[in-house]
Amino acid sequence: MRGVTSEDPVPVTIELNGRRRSGRATARTLLTDFLRSELGATGTHVGCEHGVCGACTVRIDGVAQRGCLTLAIQADGRKVDTVEGLSDRKDALTVLQQALHRNHALQCGYCTPGILMSFSDFLAHNPNPDEQEIREVLGGHICRCTGYAGLMKALIEAASEMRGEPPQISDSELAT
Ligand code: FES
Ligand code: FES
Repeated sequence: MRGVTSEDPVPVTIELNGRRRSGRATARTLLTDFLRSELGATGTHVGCEHGVCGACTVRIDGVAQRGCLTLAIQADGRKVDTVEGLSDRKDALTVLQQALHRNHALQCGYCTPGILMSFSDFLAHNPNPDEQEIREVLGGHICRCTGYAGLMKALIEAASEMRGEPPQISDSELAT
């Protein structure tokens, strides 16, 4: 009788956006593929699959990580948060999402879920970032539509608003 091999799917259970979800994955299944194909959570995008573009970023136990560099079985038993779970309500956007919307900081939107997940983690741990720190985090993401100026403005505004301050940025500050 043939034993279990690395190609045989095994059960994987995660807490996805606060809900316990189970599926099956082989030893090689990426977390991104598990989320999208097995659990139907297609909000997480897949770009390079090499850890470069950041499109696949999710939060695992609260920490932003590349979904394409994580095996599904590594996430077993852990909390995974994706863009679908950012807002408490389906018909409401978070402060961060509103800032991107207000500043036209998404065009095709391919990079957007990953950027939202990175910055939701970043701002939770660093509520008062300077512009250079924001640039460094944004530097971990590729926006193929090159919407970086709008993204910078949105991220600075969101950080300010989350501190209870009015937005304090001028377009001249964003000259690149
Ligand atoms: S798809 Fe994961 S970093 Fe590009
Ligand atoms: S908005 Fe198109 S890739 Fe960023």
